[in-house]
Amino acid sequence: VFSEVPLIPGDALFALKSRYLKDTRAHKVDLGIGAYRDENGKPWILPSVKEAEKLLQQDPEFNHEYLPLNGFAPFVEAAAKVILGEDSSALKEERVASIQTLSGTGSLHLAARFIKTFYKQSETVYLSAPTWANHFPVFEVLGLKTATYSYWDDVNKSLDIENYLKDIENAPKGSIFVLHACAHNPTGLDPTRDQWIQILEAIKKNNHLPLFDSAYQGFASGNLQNDAWALQKGVEILESPILICQSFAKNAGVYGERTGAFHVVLPKNSNNTKAISSQLAAFTRSEFSNPPAYGAKVVAKILTVPELRIQWEKDLITMSQRIYKQRVALRDLLVQLDTPGNWDHIVNQQGMFSFTGLTKSQVARLETEHAIYLASNGRASVAGLNEHNVEHVAKSIDEAVRF
Ligand code: LMR
Repeated sequence: VFSEVPLIPGDALFALKSRYLKDTRAHKVDLGIGAYRDENGKPWILPSVKEAEKLLQQDPEFNHEYLPLNGFAPFVEAAAKVILGEDSSALKEERVASIQTLSGTGSLHLAARFIKTFYKQSETVYLSAPTWANHFPVFEVLGLKTATYSYWDDVNKSLDIENYLKDIENAPKGSIFVLHACAHNPTGLDPTRDQWIQILEAIKKNNHLPLFDSAYQGFASGNLQNDAWALQKGVEILESPILICQSFAKNAGVYGERTGAFHVVLPKNSNNTKAISSQLAAFTRSEFSNPPAYGAKVVAKILTVPELRIQWEKDLITMSQRIYKQRVALRDLLVQLDTPGNWDHIVNQQGMFSFTGLTKSQVARLETEHAIYLASNGRASVAGLNEHNVEHVAKSIDEAVRF
């Protein structure tokens, strides 16, 4: 029994992380997994989160009891508000069913199960080419099919909007489309507002089911409302239900606390949220009973205590501006070094990542020769750059490109 279980390669990103940890070279640089690092390359507990934790420690009512199956209600409610907007008509009209999830991946999993169980129009989930690697298995594991739509124009390092729209048009009506709400992973390239309108109109015309994956709200522009613009526009103009997978791992820096939510927004005049919530609760019960409490309690505080909310919004600016500064520093150094190629895309992309355009072999060389770790598709987590290592990274890229 079990002797036939085959060994499979480890997850590429987590394997990269463990190679980085084992590397004993003092000048090593981690540009792998998308996790924010401070100016010294260290994990950063957001000041707002530190304050929230203090409040929890001081609260005589704090305990480690089970949460309800739908999660910590103050968190779930505030999470829906921050993504849909304080004045959301969908929320006012009670057209939103929400549930706490195991961060973004757990939310996608629940979305996949919900689609598999209740969406009869299609079993094909369209993902951007390229997309976050885990998008494929998270849907496929539930028996859904995946396909890709055009996104990245490799030659011009820009959005291939023409083929993107064609692919929406050509997909069978009622297909499922996964859209990155902002700070596209891995390219760091988001559609402009005009392009978003074209995308949303095409989705509407073809009766597709949109799923917004929102893992970086506040990380792209530093502004929560800006980063939810496309999603909120979708809620305003689309006539289909909208699925939203929301993570607080990055924007609250609570990666390991697995804090997220799944929202089903129903179209105007539909009213089945209670039934949908009951099904989502039953899924949760059968899989992990009820969600983890600590991260949800922390995030509820930063979302709802006014002084902490102000601090959190400042923390988002601190993170997004530091990343932007490093983008500029890296681009400028590459220009100074006269490194072959154009590097402006590093500055034009936003969010945690830059899709550098480095080839697989250049990436491998950076790791073996220069102790710089990034994903093999050339994606660099810009958060791993700081003023102490950016020069080493620029010189190493220069060397690898010329090699
Ligand atoms: C990433 O893309 O690096 C992050 O979303 C971490 C992960 O789970 O892959």
